[in-house]
Amino acid sequence: MFKLTDFDYHGKTVFLRVDLNSPVKDGRIISDARFRGVLPTVLYLLEHGAKVVIGTHQSKPYREDYITTEQHAEILGRLLGVDVEYVEDIFGKCARESIKSLKPGEALILENLRFAAEEVKYKSIEECENTFFVKKLAPLIDYVVNDAFAAAHRSQPSLVGFARLRPMAMGFLMEKEVKALSRAYESYERPKVYVLGGAKVSDSLRVAMNVLKSGRADVILTGGLVGQIFTLAKGYDLGEANIEFMDKKGLIKFVGLAEEILNEFYPQIRTPVDFAVEYKGERLEIDLLSDEKRLFDEHPILDIGSRTVEKYGEMLKKARIIVANGPMGVFEREEFAVGTVGVFRAIGESSAFSVVGGGHSIASIYQHNITGISHISTGGGAMLSFFAGEKLPVLEAFRISYEKFRKKMAGS
Ligand code: 3PG
Repeated sequence: MFKLTDFDYHGKTVFLRVDLNSPVKDGRIISDARFRGVLPTVLYLLEHGAKVVIGTHQSKPYREDYITTEQHAEILGRLLGVDVEYVEDIFGKCARESIKSLKPGEALILENLRFAAEEVKYKSIEECENTFFVKKLAPLIDYVVNDAFAAAHRSQPSLVGFARLRPMAMGFLMEKEVKALSRAYESYERPKVYVLGGAKVSDSLRVAMNVLKSGRADVILTGGLVGQIFTLAKGYDLGEANIEFMDKKGLIKFVGLAEEILNEFYPQIRTPVDFAVEYKGERLEIDLLSDEKRLFDEHPILDIGSRTVEKYGEMLKKARIIVANGPMGVFEREEFAVGTVGVFRAIGESSAFSVVGGGHSIASIYQHNITGISHISTGGGAMLSFFAGEKLPVLEAFRISYEKFRKKMAGS
């Protein structure tokens, strides 16, 4: 696969696909973690005289955090110490004129790529190549650099559509992510502990199935909604409020699959022994085997309890490899961040080689100054897809681009 340092960028126009999709509160971006991740790549391109056309998506249509990339331009510009022009267009005349007027060492950011209908679908490389986005921009572009690891599981025009038309290189972040995740996945060091939390239940079950079947995990510690689904599958009642909530989210259907996994790997899957709910305006921890459990009928579970954190901590201490994805609870609320922060902190304190990801939940690692984690992945769904043993379309696209252009590039 092509690396960032393989090409001469002086005076060339580069389309740099990044993933700056970030958490937003009251219309403002509240974490710059993904921006910091791509800085080395952007700086390298600017310092090597490239004209840099940056593209990112932000959320999905109709969601509250679906905003323009104006703030992305401001934040990136501030972190880089250079102006990053915000272009309120994606592939129309205005965008193309702005790209043509870029000078070496300058950067612009296109509008939120998902404002274009073509970018919302998952299509093959061939179909992505045939989109207006790719057809209109390709003639202006010399090289493509893809540093959007967090979107590597998506097959969309800006992510894979240029691969056969222009040489596409991995950005520094992409390379670092693939190396770290591969090390954790392939390593023979034991014990190997996976921590699966958050709300991506279907993805997490695929990971559990894959790593247990292939002998790549010794223990799986569960939390968040993933933990609740496994708890239900073990036959515990989590009360009306929680069942209703999971039903609304379409998650109850996964209890059957969780049961199948448990049938084969029961001792390897650990579930919380206590949970926290909000009771009279405060955090209340409830043991799964206590009578207070009836409170689950009216109070949704918002976190795992401290006893669970302690038990999980003991297992994490002994681990040699740790892979963790997703929060243990509603970490956005301080009183329910106890589980997520406790588990992430235990991972940081362990001497294992550790990889932690989960999209927006990694913000809590920076907020709470947690150190000692070997690799903090910017990927949420992409990381899960990787550990589920699936082929990531963006990684496939790098291979295709390399095969297509390697002879030509070797001769240039
Ligand atoms: C993420 O945050 O996981 C990535 O930005 C991908 O976003 P998506 O799940 O909306 O494609």
